[in-house]
Amino acid sequence: MSDTQKTATLTIGDQSYDLPVYSPTAGPDVIDIRKLYGTAGVFTYDPGFTSTAACESTITFIDGEEGVLLHRGYPISELAGKSHYLEVCYLLLYGELPTTAQLEDFETRVTRHTMVHEQMHNFFRGFRRDAHPMATLVGVVGAMSAFYHDSTDVNDPWQREVAAIRLIAKLPTIAAMAYKYSIGQPFVYPRNDLDYAANFLHMCFAVPAEEYHVDPILARAMDRIFTLHADHEQNASTSTVRLASSSGANPFACIAAGIACLWGPAHGGANQACLEMLKEIGTPDRIPEFIARAKDKNDPFRLMGFGHRVYKNFDPRATVMKQSADEVLELLGVENNPILATAKALEEAALADPYFAEKKLFPNVDFYSGIILEAMGFPTSMFTPIFALSRTVGWISQWKEQFSDPAHKIGRPRQLYKGETERSYVDIENR
Ligand code: SDX
Repeated sequence: MSDTQKTATLTIGDQSYDLPVYSPTAGPDVIDIRKLYGTAGVFTYDPGFTSTAACESTITFIDGEEGVLLHRGYPISELAGKSHYLEVCYLLLYGELPTTAQLEDFETRVTRHTMVHEQMHNFFRGFRRDAHPMATLVGVVGAMSAFYHDSTDVNDPWQREVAAIRLIAKLPTIAAMAYKYSIGQPFVYPRNDLDYAANFLHMCFAVPAEEYHVDPILARAMDRIFTLHADHEQNASTSTVRLASSSGANPFACIAAGIACLWGPAHGGANQACLEMLKEIGTPDRIPEFIARAKDKNDPFRLMGFGHRVYKNFDPRATVMKQSADEVLELLGVENNPILATAKALEEAALADPYFAEKKLFPNVDFYSGIILEAMGFPTSMFTPIFALSRTVGWISQWKEQFSDPAHKIGRPRQLYKGETERSYVDIENR
């Protein structure tokens, strides 16, 4: 923890308590309340932890007001434009951009781990064909604990490293297998002659009956989508991974927990929900009806792909994603895609509406990603699995960081109890 020169004074009744204040390299100061309950006998109250720093981290920085996203200090727009996903994985895991030799070694290690144990194929056959791929992903990733016993001891740095490489390498294979299983096609094995994104596209869209050539522009767009989803500070699924890890659970179980959390439509499930919403809107003339619903407090409808817990400005990832959407749809000759037309009209209408301006609701990372993925040929059910495989490096980097944090201990939030005070049991004949 940073040295502290500042304090905050909390006064409760006639008692005052001095609390240490730590300054970050960027972002708001934090007040250390770890001794508050012990000294003042009170808890703090912060449902959703939206004003609470749960850890110290050096991986990702977000400035929600300014729409800034940095990975180890590098702006996401530069990484998406100049780097590629496995190099960003190296940066997130080890803290610095790799040299040529380091990158080659890392890419080789990941490539050598892309196959899954052949017996894991049997897991898929236990699922219904129409199971959501996220359900399959949660199950199979959790089951990796049953296969890779030599990388489950979280106290062994070498096993932690192997688990990290295995998860980054195998998630695309497992996600592609979930997709193939859902459409009744045979699994396609990974190929070591393809790069990470091209390999994933090949495993999803190749069939044994003919050669499948990955379009390099689509592979580049896929790689950029992976990069844009790689990590995002202490979001709900990352916090889930950290909390699961705090009990000493093995890395595969922790990542399965993160996948389960990401599935929700308020989080990673928003890309699927956003495309389904755009399809329900259908044509731009119906946009006012949906905007009215989004503004109606009595209507639970939300504009999927809009708003963010942290960003109160444009999500910088959405800006890059929008450019990528234009490129991909032009390449595929579907720039006149009616869904993209509706998306652009919805974005214009929402941004012109005072409600969204006042509430600072802007398009987020999920608003355009679904349009690109659909144009590539993915069903909406595969959107969140793609988010999950992209985010695995973020989850595992944050998981890994915990082990070097001296403050690392089991997470155990408290509560504001509003239930019954103690009372005696009443026999049923007396109730
Ligand atoms: C991701 O945390 C992360 O970093 C997540 C993520 C990552 O990379 O890990 O960035 C990925 O999850 C992106 C978000 C994807 N979700 C969606 O697109 C679903 C639609 N968005 C909403 O569900 C919502 O915006 C949330 C859940 C994302 C945030 O909800 P909050 O915390 O309630 O948002 P807020 O406090 O800024 O809301 C301010 C107001 C509220 O109204 P009031 O209570 O002030 O009257 O705006 C309203 C909200 O009800 N509001 C919306 C809205 N989002 C918020 N109204 C209409 N449509 C929306 N989309």
